[in-house]
Amino acid sequence: MDAKTALLTLDGTTFELPVVMGAEGEKAIDISSLRQKTGYITLDPGYANTGSCQSAITFVDGEKGILRYRGYPIEELAEQSSFIETAMLLIFGELPTQAERAVFRDMLSAQELLHEDLLHHFEGFPPYGQPMSILSAVINSFASYHPDLLDIQTDEEFRLAVAKIISKVRTIAAFSYRKSVGRPFMYPDPNRSYCSNFLHMMFSVPYKEFEPTRAQIKALSLFLVMHADHEQNCSCSTVRMVGSSQANLFASVAAGICALWGRLHGGANAAVIEMLENINAGRMTVKDYIEKVKRREMRLMGFGHRIYKSFDPRAKILKKAAHKLLHDQDMTGDPLIEIAQELEAAAMSDDFFVERRLYPNVDFYSGIILRTLGIPVSMFPVMFAIGRMPGWIAHWYEESKNNSKIHRPRQIYTGPAPRRYVSIEDR
Ligand code: SDX
Repeated sequence: MDAKTALLTLDGTTFELPVVMGAEGEKAIDISSLRQKTGYITLDPGYANTGSCQSAITFVDGEKGILRYRGYPIEELAEQSSFIETAMLLIFGELPTQAERAVFRDMLSAQELLHEDLLHHFEGFPPYGQPMSILSAVINSFASYHPDLLDIQTDEEFRLAVAKIISKVRTIAAFSYRKSVGRPFMYPDPNRSYCSNFLHMMFSVPYKEFEPTRAQIKALSLFLVMHADHEQNCSCSTVRMVGSSQANLFASVAAGICALWGRLHGGANAAVIEMLENINAGRMTVKDYIEKVKRREMRLMGFGHRIYKSFDPRAKILKKAAHKLLHDQDMTGDPLIEIAQELEAAAMSDDFFVERRLYPNVDFYSGIILRTLGIPVSMFPVMFAIGRMPGWIAHWYEESKNNSKIHRPRQIYTGPAPRRYVSIEDR
């Protein structure tokens, strides 16, 4: 029988704290009254043991390698769903009917253009501008272009804001790429699907439209589905924290983009390709790399996870998809996937990784798919951000609906004892 309360004895006094049970049997001790009852706070750097909220969006079981979006297993969504349908599931809570999906698709088409004044933003960046800094800046500027959506009060306002972000994030990403390679912007084509339109904006030229294959469209859609949400990861928690101050949706997801940019989070997919290309260029062997990792000179990027202490289910799906895309594009001889598999095999048979329960994560094979689609490494974190938009929006909305308190963690102070001010002449 599961405990309903937890007993904590401090300085000879025993306190009773409520126990919370999740829908999948996860257990938590509710410490929301701890400081008021005991004068103590808890300390948990990196929040590895701390739940920040209760959420109905995504469930992850790191020990069993389970990932479900609103109860649907990621494996089934990978096989049968599309990115837009998955985005609707995460944001609105249910898989859409055909009619609902058609209405949302029309909303996305109506929102795919950027305000022409916004294009000057791109002129303000240097050609070598970082795509993630452009993306966060332009998304943040939506607050200026859509002041009517700064204080979302109705479902209609929320749906419009959702459509603007989900649709325009592609256009911003593609335009930042076109700017970086000195090519003219290719405007979106409302007659194309979500992923085909993005690839069109990336790779068409004024004199020749790019027509992606079904395999390319499916691979991109799958990549985006795999990245659509992952409960309280660093960037999602950032979006929830910023949203908890009642900051607008645009500012909150722009903050999520900045958090995702880090090498330990959404920047890892680019780091994986750089690692594989280094090995492929003969600068070091797989064995050398593994030894350097074991000497803690570097980390094996795309490996390890705070939650998954077994295989990340997304890594399995993306590994299979990478192989399929390479086969469909007659690129089965691509050396990087061979090196990735060699690295994976070497790590999985080495105690250093086995003891620390380090397995391939979502970033280990995802970069091979993007590279095979012709997307440059500099754009990889941006692709992760496009995929993660639905998750960030869903969590921002859940946070705002729960009318939860502003996130304001406590701390343990370790600084100087009280001291008197000394004027500069006497220092
Ligand atoms: C994502 O949270 C999410 O859900 C994120 C994400 C999502 O969908 O939002 O899944 C996306 O960010 C995936 C992770 C991408 N990052 C990388 O691939 C970067 C490489 N991996 C790591 O740096 C690391 O594994 C983390 C950051 C992902 C997790 O780190 P933790 O949980 O804080 O673990 P840790 O740093 O405390 O490491 C525990 C031990 C340490 O060894 P000891 O000091 O105990 O001997 O494992 C070692 C670490 O040195 N370790 C690694 C390693 N990851 C952890 N050693 C070598 N290579 C690695 N990749």
